[in-house]
Amino acid sequence: SVIYLKDYLAPAFLVQGVELTFDLYPNQTRVFANIQFQRNAEREASLPLQLHGSDLKLISLAIDGVVLTTAQYQVSDELLTINTVPDQFVLTSEVEIDPANNTSLEGLYRSNTMFCTQCEAEGFRKITYYPDRPDVMAAFTTTVIADKSEYPVLLSNGNSVKRGDLDNNRHFVTWQDPFRKPAYLFALVAGDLQVVEDRFVTSSGREVVLEIWVEPENLTKCDHAMASLKAAMKWDEEVYGREYDLDIYMIVAVNDFNMGAMENKGLNIFNSSCVLARSDTATDAAFQRIEGVVAHEYFHNWSGNRVTCRDWFQLSLKEGFTVYRDQCFSADMNDAAVKRIEDVAMLRTAQFAEDAGPTAHPVRPEQFIEISNFYTLTIYEKGSEVVRMIANLLGEALFRKGCDLYFARHDGQAVTVDDFVAAMAEVSDIDFTQFMRWYSQAGTPELQITDQYNAEKQQYLLTFKQHTPATQGQKDKQPLHIPVKLGLLNQAGQDMALHLSEGEASGAQGDQCRVLHLREATQTFVFENVIEQPTPSLLRGFSAPVKVNFSYNQAQLLHLMQHDSDGFNRWDAGQRLAIDALKSMITAFNSGLMPILDTALVEAFRSLLNSSLSPAILAEMLVLPSEAYLAEQYEVVPIEAIHACRNIARKTLAQGLQVELKQCLQANLLEGNYRPVAEDIGKRRLKNTCLAYLMSLEAPEVVDQAWQQFNQADNMTDVQAALVQLVHSKQDDKADAALKKFESDWQQDALVMDQWFAVQASRPQPDALARVKALMEHSAFSLKNPNKVRALVGTYCNQNRVNFHSIDGHSYRFLADVVLALDKMNPQIASRLITPLARWQKLDLKRQGLMQAELQRIAQAKLSKDLFEVVNKALA
Ligand code: ARG
Ligand code: ZN
Repeated sequence: SVIYLKDYLAPAFLVQGVELTFDLYPNQTRVFANIQFQRNAEREASLPLQLHGSDLKLISLAIDGVVLTTAQYQVSDELLTINTVPDQFVLTSEVEIDPANNTSLEGLYRSNTMFCTQCEAEGFRKITYYPDRPDVMAAFTTTVIADKSEYPVLLSNGNSVKRGDLDNNRHFVTWQDPFRKPAYLFALVAGDLQVVEDRFVTSSGREVVLEIWVEPENLTKCDHAMASLKAAMKWDEEVYGREYDLDIYMIVAVNDFNMGAMENKGLNIFNSSCVLARSDTATDAAFQRIEGVVAHEYFHNWSGNRVTCRDWFQLSLKEGFTVYRDQCFSADMNDAAVKRIEDVAMLRTAQFAEDAGPTAHPVRPEQFIEISNFYTLTIYEKGSEVVRMIANLLGEALFRKGCDLYFARHDGQAVTVDDFVAAMAEVSDIDFTQFMRWYSQAGTPELQITDQYNAEKQQYLLTFKQHTPATQGQKDKQPLHIPVKLGLLNQAGQDMALHLSEGEASGAQGDQCRVLHLREATQTFVFENVIEQPTPSLLRGFSAPVKVNFSYNQAQLLHLMQHDSDGFNRWDAGQRLAIDALKSMITAFNSGLMPILDTALVEAFRSLLNSSLSPAILAEMLVLPSEAYLAEQYEVVPIEAIHACRNIARKTLAQGLQVELKQCLQANLLEGNYRPVAEDIGKRRLKNTCLAYLMSLEAPEVVDQAWQQFNQADNMTDVQAALVQLVHSKQDDKADAALKKFESDWQQDALVMDQWFAVQASRPQPDALARVKALMEHSAFSLKNPNKVRALVGTYCNQNRVNFHSIDGHSYRFLADVVLALDKMNPQIASRLITPLARWQKLDLKRQGLMQAELQRIAQAKLSKDLFEVVNKALA
């Protein structure tokens, strides 16, 4: 059944306090709850008590100590209803649950030998009967009882207040969380874990104990997460004035986890892939992801926990804001321009595709069947872009003032996106009425921009037409308020002074870079005293999440790539140059002609290699747009042509730039110990980018170099980069030998083995599907572990486009089979995994037919809500 935002009603009952007791056993865990209820004065006086609950075996119920007879309540699959209750009472319940058979990884479940929980969004109802909605906030006291030998460590939210031994080798710990919270922030962990401990002194001088709990063999992999946590705590004090509020902050690493991590109050639970790192086991990308995710969960303590969401339609209130916060943090810790490039590249590739696909939804959705389906790039990444636009509209100081007001006014409350924007409007006097459409309209706005230079009048005109394409269930789109940050480059490559005579602008950085406020469907801005024809640098820093169409010629793009004062736009100009060149090749390929790379691109890349750009930026600029982003440029995606032409382009570049690439590779070899710092990460990235280009030629000496790097490197970044090159090359012997060595080195390490699976899943050779199927039988693979499924099946279906879309349709059938099997165990993962099959709209008719047939086959089965919602949207 569909839930609508417009139907929101305040809860009929509020909870003053909860006492939970868990008697933990793998198959028969007993959960005892004492819940103090009070009627909500905002609602009608005689409403029944309705509590959420699923997969629970009810043992007993009592109100104020009086046991209820079965005639006094009704139990359905999802609800417990008690018709007559007093205005204030204590409900006592006892239920039994089966964590060992909970493969959904939602509620209380087992991961290896430990017990852990995941309650967001609606998992608490699999633990006990409760009003499982974020606007019901309560103080929790939790007692965990378990076998002392198997589960020496018992954790929950807040502070531990009591512990002791019980009969039969059992023991207990009682935890008290003084902060009122919604049930989705509840957490419990029990296991044989060990701890890495540290301390942080807050700005007001309070000492906080920091603990990272892991399985014993992972104790040596916690340093980076701990350093990241301390840096995040300091950053939030400095940048947002936010201090931590409990005496203890715990992180637990678990192997089986649906998402990246979870911000449970005082007890974050993490996918082990987002905590554990050591130089020899984790790549630079993993180190950076850990830094970002640890910070993200920490930042939620304010943006999410102290101030939470009224209902799940407001999810982006906490997620968009917190992603914005973690992006800014990572930008400050690393190279800000590189971070922005990475974030935008991801948004434009994956979020734009979501916005154009069957599951497109606004940043604040208006309806859903299963909320788990809405933990999306739109809610997170586009949501962050919306907050970024607000921050840019206000400027740093006012944005901080708005955040202070928001946190102060709503501390301890469950609020809406409107409350957030109202605080921003109040401190700035900006009218956000039109801007709010960013929250309600789905789809990516497109800007058609044209210019006109009048030499006589020394006038320069820029005309913007904005248009947002229709999305499912949302045909009519209104014009948005789009902040367009721009500069005009003169022929020497400098920013010109901007004198605007028509149109609204703000945020002058000097007078050479301004933000135009685009509000109309069509709008012209007029610049005066423009003494020569300028080259416009549009949407600097990607000032709005939109598509920009401006027919730049090659000379203009080269000019921007070499001179733009905005680092992001220099990179973007290079990408546009490459896209133009690749598109011509694809046109040739499709007409049966030999695709040839424009030599201008070779020369442009040569100029980059000879420039003084930092290694990190240079590495970004040398990478051709991905196959996925190239696909975004087409109405009907030419799968094989994109793959073939991108490879030819890479070879042509490698051939033409061999000398420069070899020099650059040598110049960026690092000595000394591995450090996961931006400077070294940039150098490794650049070196490995050069190696990849050179490997496309497969000259013996380069193959040897890759082989040596694979065998001798002291860090996983270089080992993995070399492994990819060997496995994706035609050097079958070396590829097999490398895979074998890697496997025998790392078979005990689940996270490293994920990389071993992913490298093979992304292999472009035509036998990839057979190999993926064979690997699913490997002893290290398990369909029950989401990381394994993502590494093998997810990588194959999303990154190995040429094989996944093979015209025989075998991969579509394969994915459908996996999804059907998975839906019985873990609906959240099944419904995510199906994404590439749901995106049939942009393929040719033959493939569309094959993909739809598989979707229809899936639709015939009995499906989870999660998969049902996605499949039905995809077939609508
Ligand atoms: N709140 C978590 C985070 O973004 C994600 C939880 C996702 N849970 C889910 N069931 N989809 O940090
Ligand atoms: Zn989050």
